[in-house]
Amino acid sequence: MKKAIYPGTFDPVTVGHLDIMKRACTMFDEITIAVAKNASKKPMFNLEQRIAMVKTATKQFPKINVVGFEGLLVDLSEKLNANIIIRGLRAVSDFEYELQMGYANSSLKKELETVFLMPSLEYGFVSSSVVRSILPFNGKVDHLLPASILKMIEEYQK
Ligand code: PNS
Repeated sequence: MKKAIYPGTFDPVTVGHLDIMKRACTMFDEITIAVAKNASKKPMFNLEQRIAMVKTATKQFPKINVVGFEGLLVDLSEKLNANIIIRGLRAVSDFEYELQMGYANSSLKKELETVFLMPSLEYGFVSSSVVRSILPFNGKVDHLLPASILKMIEEYQK
């Protein structure tokens, strides 16, 4: 049984995240999407809203379950008994941050392995921060977000 954790802030979940999740489903038996509270990042959407959006976007994937977490990822990995961390890697600009986080996590727990997955090229520019920069101006985001969460985003912005 190969278990993996895909952690992130998912503020909000994008088509890029969903692409990574689909790829992970071909490689692992069970994937826990771990939505970080990450209060220090002052997310646009609260934890409950972010969890609800990830749950809605992934409901067609039986291998995926969604949890919220606060604190260290290594502690969650202990709790879930899962030592594989999935992260998406788009461009060189992601690399330094991801490498530092991967090494930091393995310095805390040596069994932890970080697996980097590339999204499809068409999603190379997609990020939650791009979405957040468009949303306040009512710009077009339907090509950046899973179709199933568009209504939720509208509702949460009211
Ligand atoms: O989507 P993000 O914001 O790039 O995700 C970052 C996340 C949630 C993976 C990262 O902030 C995290 O793992 N937070 C938990 C705290 C932790 O374990 N820190 C030590 C490793 S840097």
